[in-house]
Amino acid sequence: MVRRILSPGTVEAISRTFQKLNYSSLGRMYCDEGDDAFWKDRRGPCQKLGIKLAEVLRGRLRPRGRSLYVGAGVAEIPVLVMETIELGRSVAVYNLRAEEVSVLNAALTGLPLRFISGRAQSAVGSFDHLWIASVLNDPEHFPQLSALSYGRANPVTFDPAAFARERRLVAKLAGTCLDKLRRPALVTTSVEEIPWITDWCARRKVTCFVEPNEYPTALVGDPVCFIRIAGARKRARGVRKGVARLKGW
Ligand SMILES: C[S@@+](CC[C@H](N)C(=O)[O-])C[C@H]1O[C@@H](n2cnc3c(N)ncnc32)[C@H](O)[C@@H]1O
Repeated sequence: MVRRILSPGTVEAISRTFQKLNYSSLGRMYCDEGDDAFWKDRRGPCQKLGIKLAEVLRGRLRPRGRSLYVGAGVAEIPVLVMETIELGRSVAVYNLRAEEVSVLNAALTGLPLRFISGRAQSAVGSFDHLWIASVLNDPEHFPQLSALSYGRANPVTFDPAAFARERRLVAKLAGTCLDKLRRPALVTTSVEEIPWITDWCARRKVTCFVEPNEYPTALVGDPVCFIRIAGARKRARGVRKGVARLKGW
């Protein structure tokens, strides 16, 4: 039986990392008001929900595999620590914000884990897990697409030409990262980003299974879910939802 609870050493490493984070610098980056209230309120839930998610993910990943993280930040620290120190996996972790990357890395000293400031599309090699949560619908990078994804588009001000441009960029970003998967593989993503993953699978004629459970997150607040991507030689095609098992897993 797969053990679901994290080891005490992993939980200790997560909590040590959260203690070492520079919250006043992070406050300026994560919240417009830039005050300490944001992290006073969010730090505990972020650590707690991150550990819960790490426990769930632990049972879905094989030891010593490779994960690609797109746009990871504080929220992903628990899962990254679990993957590296508990499962002995290697992780390629990308974030475009150089200042945030240096604050995160300063708190990770002593752990086999570093954030990289740059585009995830530049990651080299293949992966059996892709984490892409609250990136393809990020209002900072894709304002029109984000408004549409979250059901907040204003019909008076919505810019369809800008939306079409953003949709091309997002499809390219998602496709470039998904092409790096060695199947069978797992994708962790937010519920709002599911269509990008299932669309890529449909175009590639690859079977995928969207797990029915959703898990809350504490910063962006988008719930995340898991999508299993079938192995290369499966005959069944299409998207399955809520089916207990996918052949090849
Ligand atoms: C809304 S934040 C989400 C942060 C985190 N995943 C969370 O849920 O709290 C989106 C992040 O995606 C990053 N990002 C956007 N495009 C990226 C790319 N091509 N490669 C790596 N990171 C990217 C941005 O730098 C930003 O940090």
